[in-house]
Amino acid sequence: MVNYTCNRLLRTFRSTCAPLTVIICFSCLLTFIFILSQPSPGPGLIQRLGWQSWELVSTPDDSKASSTANHTDTTTDKGHGSNVPEGVDWWDTSTESETIDYTSLPLDKWAPLLPHDTGLSEIAVTHCVFDPDRVPEELCSPPTTKELDGIHGKWVRVDRNVNLETGYFSGYLNIYYRRTRRQDINLIANITLLPENTEPWPVEGWKRASTSLRTGWRAPPLYLWYYAVKTASQMTAEERADLITEMDVLYGDDVPWYGFEKLDPPTLAAEPGKVESTRIIIRRGVKIPPRAPPLHFSRDGKFKILQVADLHYSVSVGKCQNVRFSPCSASDNLTSTLLSRILDAEKPDLVVFTGDQLNGQDTSWDPKSVLAKFARSVTDRKIPWAAVFGNHDSEIGANREEQMKLMQALPYSLAERGPKDISGVGNYVLKVKSADPSKTHILTLYFLDSGSYSKGVFDWLGFFRGTEYDWIHQDQIDWFLQESSRIDPIERPFHPDGAKDLGNVWKRQDQITPDTRRLAKPNALMFFHIPLPEAYSRADRDPRTNSPLDIGIHGNEQQGSAKGNDGFFEKGLLKAMESDHVTSSTLEVKAVANGHCHITENCRRVKGIWMCFGGGGSYSGYGKIGFDRRFRVYDISNYGETITTYKRTESESDEVINKQILTGLGAVPL
Ligand SMILES: *[C@@H]1O[C@H](CO)[C@@H](O)[C@H](O)[C@H]1NC(C)=O
Ligand SMILES: *[C@@H]1O[C@H](CO)[C@@H](O)[C@H](O)[C@H]1NC(C)=O
Ligand SMILES: *[C@@H]1O[C@H](CO)[C@@H](O)[C@H](O)[C@H]1NC(C)=O
Repeated sequence: MVNYTCNRLLRTFRSTCAPLTVIICFSCLLTFIFILSQPSPGPGLIQRLGWQSWELVSTPDDSKASSTANHTDTTTDKGHGSNVPEGVDWWDTSTESETIDYTSLPLDKWAPLLPHDTGLSEIAVTHCVFDPDRVPEELCSPPTTKELDGIHGKWVRVDRNVNLETGYFSGYLNIYYRRTRRQDINLIANITLLPENTEPWPVEGWKRASTSLRTGWRAPPLYLWYYAVKTASQMTAEERADLITEMDVLYGDDVPWYGFEKLDPPTLAAEPGKVESTRIIIRRGVKIPPRAPPLHFSRDGKFKILQVADLHYSVSVGKCQNVRFSPCSASDNLTSTLLSRILDAEKPDLVVFTGDQLNGQDTSWDPKSVLAKFARSVTDRKIPWAAVFGNHDSEIGANREEQMKLMQALPYSLAERGPKDISGVGNYVLKVKSADPSKTHILTLYFLDSGSYSKGVFDWLGFFRGTEYDWIHQDQIDWFLQESSRIDPIERPFHPDGAKDLGNVWKRQDQITPDTRRLAKPNALMFFHIPLPEAYSRADRDPRTNSPLDIGIHGNEQQGSAKGNDGFFEKGLLKAMESDHVTSSTLEVKAVANGHCHITENCRRVKGIWMCFGGGGSYSGYGKIGFDRRFRVYDISNYGETITTYKRTESESDEVINKQILTGLGAVPL
């Protein structure tokens, strides 16, 4: 019996306890290895811990100072449903400011669009024969130790080759900086560039980066000096707001990126026609680009859009193309001056760039430098703007994705990336609302990416650009119809709250259209670069005169549409109705605005939709002698009911031509 019991116990032990013990022991081992055991910490590890904790350290008044640092002009359009104080227009959201969690921004990555308020502690310049993007970072980065990384911050490479323009064999010259949130480290308050054997005066507090900014090619050396004598905690709030917080490189001689300033002299001076200049640019403090207020009509029901087509800007000042005056130089500057004049004459509420802002073709090789300047005349006037891409924009330097991020970071930008799961970058919708407190959506603006080049036979080799233009694809058609179906019908024509006070406008409208009150989607305009084949189809005829509805110049140029086609006109535009009523036959999109063809600027009505070209406005894009550069205006009135278009040309007499009512009161009936 005893024996039996013992045996049983033994068996039970063997069958249960033994495996259990093994499992428990193994778990303990794992726990020990992964949780309890810490290898004896060497200096490096201690430092790493120290570095991490320093990341989190900031004095309470430091965080306050950074959030109260002057971010004037900072507006968001969060104002959409928010409470607006009595007596303030609902779109006036300038009192709200973005709250940024500065402590969440990464310190060890170069991300110049981020609003870093954290200072830099050290700068180095390195010259490397290898492309630092393609070799292990240590090969090109300045020497360091874990301790130094912990104290001053890790080296961050400004990912722009200063030697980009100095010839094939000059290697890679990069600026590195360390950024730190530590309170006991001196931060950089000033930077200056000086030739050899020159020192800032007085020299106390200045340090020199040991490698010349002109290493790798034959040129008198130029050294970067930086000044750091105070720690963040020793500085006043003003001094801290003026710290150098970012560095970048600008190619060309135009304006630097928003919020940045140029350092003189250039590391490479321009030689017209040969090389563009290269400059170091710096940002002091946080410069958050002002945001556009939500799009809205004026109180008397007006909204004006200026279309800017085919700027074709380059890193250089631009090369004149088919211009009637001579000599002609700096065509980008001339274009910018012309655009400024048109903007002042028209005072639009929105500017739409309809593609080919960048010239591509090897001259816009640094898209960031070109994007910094292309919208200046618009942003200087605080005008909101939207943009789509053309075929040339992403030919060189940066893809559409990257360029969209840059455009969104510019002041007053309304450009959007759009959904990632459909073709193209920049398929989006903007809604323009009424000025009254009802904020009724009374005009829709669709933006589509008509692509650049379709994939041809040789494209997989990567050598050839597609030989054919791209087109709007089926997934974009589906997206458009889906967006259109989401738009709520409104009572049209729209009456603002308190319209009775406005009296005449409404009396007039009601007299002319007494029985057209209906539920329908607001009128829509659509913008994309490459025209549809239907832009060249047979024009509708005016039922009263039987003359074709086609106004403006049909340049003697090739048909600009793509050869391929997914049928956007038939399957998209002709399917989007103003209302879901089976009886309704009114199309939602009244006009399509394209660019692409510089000397074609007509508006043609095809199956009820106006297909309009912007007409080239740039001296840098091809044109024709005798064809004035021009810009198209869409002037919307009667709270979105009436859309009129015309063009304003370069002619000194401020010429307005081909005024045509596309839809609404006075338009040619369907
Ligand atoms: C912010 O700007 C206002 C006036 O523009 C000025 O009085 C104030 O001192 C500034 N504050 C900081 C923290 O710079
Ligand atoms: C930066 O240093 C330069 C050269 O010493 C000097 O001229 C300039 O005034 C300084 N700027 C600031 C903001 O301290
Ligand atoms: C072009 O305009 C930029 C920005 O205003 C200016 O810096 C540059 O000097 C101008 N270039 C020429 C040749 O006019």
